[in-house]
Amino acid sequence: MDREEARRLLDWYVGIGVDEATTATAVNRFAAPSAPPPVRTAPAKRPQAPARPAVALEDARTLAAGAFSLAELVEAINAFDGCPLKRTATTTCIADGNAQAPIMIIGEAPGGEEDRQGKPFVGAAGKLLDRMLAAIGLDRTRVYITNTLYWRPPGNRTPTPEEIAVCLPFLERQVELLSPKLLVYVGGTAVKAMFDTAPGEGITRIRGRWLRLEREGREPVPAIAMFHPAYLLRQPLKKRDSWRDLLAIRQRMEELGIAPGMPKV
Ligand code: URA
Repeated sequence: MDREEARRLLDWYVGIGVDEATTATAVNRFAAPSAPPPVRTAPAKRPQAPARPAVALEDARTLAAGAFSLAELVEAINAFDGCPLKRTATTTCIADGNAQAPIMIIGEAPGGEEDRQGKPFVGAAGKLLDRMLAAIGLDRTRVYITNTLYWRPPGNRTPTPEEIAVCLPFLERQVELLSPKLLVYVGGTAVKAMFDTAPGEGITRIRGRWLRLEREGREPVPAIAMFHPAYLLRQPLKKRDSWRDLLAIRQRMEELGIAPGMPKV
């Protein structure tokens, strides 16, 4: 294979989402095995095949409801094998920031860098998110950051409705346990997971509008959705809308009495 063919092959791999080497040498999976596969003596690193979706959802609900602190919930998520994405992810990536903070930021799912480090929003989109937060006086000591899903979808594809549904009890329980005063959803996947939006309604229409997360017996929580920073990296002109959303968040923080002093310029 010459250089140009090799480059085209690599482009094709990247295009279909094969963007990580799992072994140091290539394995020809078409070759007939010369010997029977070795018997596994060590416990398998990958989790068991996930249960049927309905069973997995019931397990997720039971595990989430049985967690009475964030530490217990983190343990429950780590123990949960019902999301098929766990089988291809390297780490379980749950949260970053300050669990006591009044503001909770909810993204979509870990990307490549998040999967490596086990921490949300640490890649290029995360760096932009940090700059956006800094513009309204926030940083990771003043917000709690999590995702709708805790395992990276292969090749960063959009998560399926089943994958979102099976992880939702854990997100809802995080909101219950941490009782944030303000919720900020980044991207359509996150906000649509927790709110009934009109069919086909995209983030372009949902962003910038104040919503209220209503739960029985609890104070409603003001919530707003913004464009995902990964989208803003591709569409920088949309940053103008996001700036408006950030100002609206800052104003609401002031109304709620949870705004820190603005950074000195
Ligand atoms: N995109 C997300 O939605 N979450 C992350 O943690 C990283 C990228």
